[in-house]
Amino acid sequence: MPNEHQKQYLWWQDGIIYQVYPRSFQDSNNDGIGDLRGIIRRLDYLKWLGVKAVWISPIYPSPMADFGYDISDYRNIWSPFGDLADFDDLLQQLHAADMRLILDLVPNHSSDEHPWFVESRSSRDNPKRDWYIWKDAKPDGSPPNNWLSVFGGSAWQWDETTKQYYYHAFLVKQPDLNWRNPEVVDAMLNIMRFWLDKGVDGFRVDAMWHMIKDSQWRDNPHNPEYKETMATYEKLLPVYSTDQPEMHEIAAKMRKVLDEYDERLMIAEIYLPVHRLVTYYGTHEKEAHLPFNFMLISLAWDPRLIAAAIDEYEAALSKDDWPNWVIGNHDQPRITSRVGAQQAKIAAILLLTLRGTPTLYYGDEISMRDVPIPEEEVQDPQGLNMPGKNLSRDPERTPMLWDSTNNAGFTDAQPWLRVDRAFHRRNVQVQKPNPLSALTLYKSLIDLRQTEPSLMTGAYTPVCSDHQMIAYIRQAEGHTGFLIVLNLTHRPCYFTPGTILFSGTIVIDTVPEQLGAKVRNKIDLSGDEGLVVRLEEWQSVSSNPSS
Ligand code: NOJ
Repeated sequence: MPNEHQKQYLWWQDGIIYQVYPRSFQDSNNDGIGDLRGIIRRLDYLKWLGVKAVWISPIYPSPMADFGYDISDYRNIWSPFGDLADFDDLLQQLHAADMRLILDLVPNHSSDEHPWFVESRSSRDNPKRDWYIWKDAKPDGSPPNNWLSVFGGSAWQWDETTKQYYYHAFLVKQPDLNWRNPEVVDAMLNIMRFWLDKGVDGFRVDAMWHMIKDSQWRDNPHNPEYKETMATYEKLLPVYSTDQPEMHEIAAKMRKVLDEYDERLMIAEIYLPVHRLVTYYGTHEKEAHLPFNFMLISLAWDPRLIAAAIDEYEAALSKDDWPNWVIGNHDQPRITSRVGAQQAKIAAILLLTLRGTPTLYYGDEISMRDVPIPEEEVQDPQGLNMPGKNLSRDPERTPMLWDSTNNAGFTDAQPWLRVDRAFHRRNVQVQKPNPLSALTLYKSLIDLRQTEPSLMTGAYTPVCSDHQMIAYIRQAEGHTGFLIVLNLTHRPCYFTPGTILFSGTIVIDTVPEQLGAKVRNKIDLSGDEGLVVRLEEWQSVSSNPSS
């Protein structure tokens, strides 16, 4: 029973979020593409795993040029995924299981096949003309400025019919909406209400930092650190095309819509340095509850860098800002492919023991890897538009590996994207009973985290870090504390902190032989070992022995 002095936390603060990429989670009607009924079929698994909320990447009608991030109707379901009745069923069943549903909201752009854009491009004086961003060519016919598309090439597309350019931060088929037009703002806020009225528990807002652009349309400067291996978009620094001050008013308006309802959540997809990222919590007015923190994705796997980044983030948050952590999503190479299977277990411990809401990417819990997709089978536009740079996101979007049957239990048909050929030995069914598996580690971490207030919501205290290791303590007032020690290298390392005395029992360990071991004041770690110690006692000792 919580005592009356204990702070109450909201579901998105002490719960875990799980991202489902709907095309690849579970097919229920054998067309090779995952669907809503498939997700319903797997709710028992998600409940067993212990997650609180499911975030589903876009499920709306779409020509699928960017696999659903190009929406042609914001108020319906893409038919291969199901229909609104399936959606209501999914929502109802999630709620019945005491879980929540987060939808992807894509407000920065629509599909060029959305009726709004079809109207907008039909003539210069169409009432929807100003819903998108249209500009005249420069006198020599070239685009209005040098801005680049994230997916390669210029961000401006010439329209022969009306003889103007339109702006697309992503694909030509994803024209940007004009968020300086109040009609666009109203339309999108009403779309949010449509889904909130149905009972969805929140949104993950796509590309929030792109939504408002410089009012003077100035050229972006060149990036002095650009290298040929990077995406062409990175040739310029997007200082005028993203992260504009006016965006905060819009974010506050979106937040107000959520606050018309009970306990709804706004997550914002934002790739910015920490000091810019935290401004999206809102300074004058409330904005996102959780601006996604991608630090563990962006940083090199170096304990000193990571320890410093954790401190930088903790320091940048104000008292009311709730932290969050992510190690994978549908746009980034999987953690197992970035750091290897052994270190991916260390990443799992980090993700599930740092302070703040963790977001898991489907399949990371069974250490799914990026699957090599032959060049001729690449479907992701990022890969197709910038060939030769290995930038396709298909490898991290392959079907979930459930069991050892046909296509890993994902479908009986030809799957839309190749299934990992190692699925016989790497799948949920094989890993569940195996005490050494990634899934068993995830499950133990989640169980521990969700029963221990110190790990769920307790304070973060750094202990030490060096070229091999990171160590920290999590403790909630009045509760048993936990010491986490992680070796980010393959060689043994020695945890002998000068700054604390402690004793306790190892309750999680990537080296299972150590489970239950008593430790006191120092720990010798094997290569790739990460562990969690339930502390019996601990105290700081002064670094100055004479004081
Ligand atoms: C970010 C999404 O996560 C990504 O998948 C998509 O391609 C772009 N935004 C454009 O919507």
